[in-house]
Parts: sequence; C-alpha cells; structure tokens
Amino acid sequence: MRYQRKTLESPEWWQSLDAYIAEQKERNRDHVQSALIPVLHHVQDTFGYIPVKAINHVAQQLGVPTAFVCGVASFYSYFSLTPKGIYTISVCLGTACYVRGSQAVLDEFCRQINCRPGESTPDGLFTVHEARCLGACGQAPVVMVNDVVYARVTPEQVPDIIAQLTAEAQAESA
Ligand code: FES
Repeated sequence: MRYQRKTLESPEWWQSLDAYIAEQKERNRDHVQSALIPVLHHVQDTFGYIPVKAINHVAQQLGVPTAFVCGVASFYSYFSLTPKGIYTISVCLGTACYVRGSQAVLDEFCRQINCRPGESTPDGLFTVHEARCLGACGQAPVVMVNDVVYARVTPEQVPDIIAQLTAEAQAESA
C-alpha cells in the first residue's frame, strides 16, 4: 500500500499562491529573501515538501533565478526538497535526551521501519530524523511525530507507536 499525503493543490491553489506571492513582494520590496521564506512555508504546508514545479513557479513570480530559490530552500533545515512520509518522526538527540537513552529509541525506530535517519519508507508513511533539542528537555527522551510530542519514550514503546500510526493512516485512507 502506498500512502499519499492529502494536498490542497488545485488550479485555485496556484492562483491563491500568486496572490500570496504578490502580497509578500509588496511587503518586502527591498528584500526578496524576506518575501521568499513565507512563500516557501506556504508551499511546504500544502505539499509537505517543496516540489520542483513550485520552485520554478515561485522563482518566476518573484523574478529571481531558480538556483536562488533552491539555495534558500536547501539552507533551512525546516524545508525539504524531497517528499516526506505522512508521519515525520523526529527523535531528539540533544544532551538531555541523549543521556536518557534517545539514541536507543532512534535505533529502534530505524530498525522497525527499516530506514536510516533522513530516509522515508517506500510506502510513503514514515520519515525518520535526528533532532536537536525539541524544547521539552524535562520530558526526555522526547520524540515528535509531526507536531505531537511523545514524552519519556523507551525503545520498548516504539513498536506500539508505529502500530498506532499505521492503524491511524489505514483508517484515514480506507
Ligand atoms: S534535549 Fe531533547 S528536548 Fe531538549
């Protein structure tokens, strides 16, 4: 089974993107990069990543080279130029989490979904990442799945988390 992120993309969406780009250009007349960042966020919120088609479109609308848009999108770790799974699993390897065993948690996620950090499962369901301090050190080891925080995660809990997310995705695509 191949899971696909629901996207709001439509001809109307591209029109609304153009209106958003025009608004950002107007607001940031002297600094195109300041206009580009919110536009890239807007694109990523829709697709889950920044597809080539959108990079070309944004570059054209902002009147900057495609390489410039690519460069900015690759510089910031928040942006992704490759499709992500429906669930992005971020395992914190910051100091507080690391000393409480988060490396073993990350290893178990990787083992369960058969991916290395930064990779996605072929079915499009999971992407696993190493993260640096997710700002919840008191709950270490911390894992975030999309925007949901899992506190004090142990390797033994990982199969249940994977099973719960898989069931959730299957229910939504049924
Ligand atoms: S070190 Fe993991 S949340 Fe801060």
